[in-house]
Amino acid sequence: MPSGELPEHVAENRRHWDEMAGEWVERGIRCWNMSEPSWGEFEIPESQVGMLPADMSGVDAIELGCGTAYVSGWMARRGARVVGIDNSEAQLATARRLAGEHGADLTLLHGNAEAVPYPDASFDFAISEYGAAIWCDPYAWIPEAARLLRPGGRLVFLGNHTLLQLCAPDALAPAGDRLLRDYFGLHRLEWPDDGSVEFALPYGEWFRLLRDTGFEIEDFLELQAPADATRDFDYVTAAWSKRWPSEHVFKAVKRA
Ligand SMILES: C[S@@+](CC[C@H](N)C(=O)[O-])C[C@H]1O[C@@H](n2cnc3c(N)ncnc32)[C@H](O)[C@@H]1O
Repeated sequence: MPSGELPEHVAENRRHWDEMAGEWVERGIRCWNMSEPSWGEFEIPESQVGMLPADMSGVDAIELGCGTAYVSGWMARRGARVVGIDNSEAQLATARRLAGEHGADLTLLHGNAEAVPYPDASFDFAISEYGAAIWCDPYAWIPEAARLLRPGGRLVFLGNHTLLQLCAPDALAPAGDRLLRDYFGLHRLEWPDDGSVEFALPYGEWFRLLRDTGFEIEDFLELQAPADATRDFDYVTAAWSKRWPSEHVFKAVKRA
């Protein structure tokens, strides 16, 4: 879809990610090379987070906002037939190159994860790690994930913890130890320092939205930086994430 026909935040984030893609190649290469998946900024091992079924043979899986598509690659290695959709052609160029280098047979689509060009009930498993999970409007992408999944299908996603978003001064400035914005009514977050648009919800809203769109919640995790973590990121330091949860994981099942 041409940028002019996209929702305003999707067009804005397309511009942002096409500009940023070069900075994500190194992480993409590192994650594609991992023998065991690890998740989030602090790269917590799959054995502790449990995002993926061990055997995905014959599973139709979709990654919503796949970026450099290493999660798609991990799922393909476990036997899944994988579709990755991403809003940035520049990110997909890296994804296609790395998938080719790793011999992964992925279907990679350029598009908006809030409106995926697949029929209802096409997939058994949907996942997002920092893709749709933070960049798409939850009131659009969660119902879209429900539409795409078959009854009994699973949705798993990881994104920024809402507490972190309340304490974040800007997209590229580390969260402090003060609440800077209201919790009630939280939804769209615009970051003046880089022009991107993210989304976050109060937890009651996340749970209600998932239930109202046909999901049962299987698990909800609040991730903490490991005790030996030392690496800081633009918007969160290791010290912050040792004290407060910087990331969350939802695991949900579509009701039969
Ligand atoms: C941080 S990457 C996530 C991928 C990967 N897990 C990672 O952490 O590098 C965020 C991705 O979300 C994509 N994205 C943002 N808005 C999107 C939308 N509306 N539909 C699909 N993808 C979107 C961006 O283009 C970007 O590639």
